[in-house]
Amino acid sequence: MDPNDIAYVLVDEKKLKEICQELGKKISEDYKGKKLYLVSVLKGSIVFMADLIREITCDCQIDFLAVSSYDGARSIGVVKFKKDLDIDPAGCDILLVEDILDSGVTLSYLKKFIEDRKAASVRICTLLDKPENRKIDISADYVGMVIPDEFVIGYGLDYDEKYRNLPYVGVLAPHVYQGK
Ligand code: IMP
Ligand code: MG
Repeated sequence: MDPNDIAYVLVDEKKLKEICQELGKKISEDYKGKKLYLVSVLKGSIVFMADLIREITCDCQIDFLAVSSYDGARSIGVVKFKKDLDIDPAGCDILLVEDILDSGVTLSYLKKFIEDRKAASVRICTLLDKPENRKIDISADYVGMVIPDEFVIGYGLDYDEKYRNLPYVGVLAPHVYQGK
């Protein structure tokens, strides 16, 4: 990877660990005695999910959903379903785990999709929140960090399927996507 592709580091490894510890503590308190299922929205949330579940001390199970609404750095605004849940969410307390809440199109679609299947509760935990770009009125119940409207990569987040393996969250240098 060309280091010039990263404009600057936005959230470093130390801060990411602190975020997971804080969120994990809060979720563990809120869901004590409940039937918690953490549902990771693939692929962007896998690194966050892996770190978050190790900070959760109450009983929980995990599942995965796969959707896509992005084409390069532009949201195409249509959610494409790629993988359904393995579990039946009826009666379960579902916590959707996302990498980033941007326009809100993906999470509002997924929230309704799971609510319609009679889950006991559906809440949202997002590592990053970009409220400036919201197109649908939706907010997360657990937010790691509010960030400016920049395209970010690393710690699971990609641009054209690249950069997911970076251990920090960085802002993508505009030259990478300009002219595409
Ligand atoms: P939304 O439907 O616009 O809220 O977008 C949600 C999805 O778009 C996220 O789960 C990400 O996968 C992707 N996304 C949005 N913003 C970024 C970004 O800055 N970097 C990488 N992916 C992003
Ligand atoms: Mg995502």
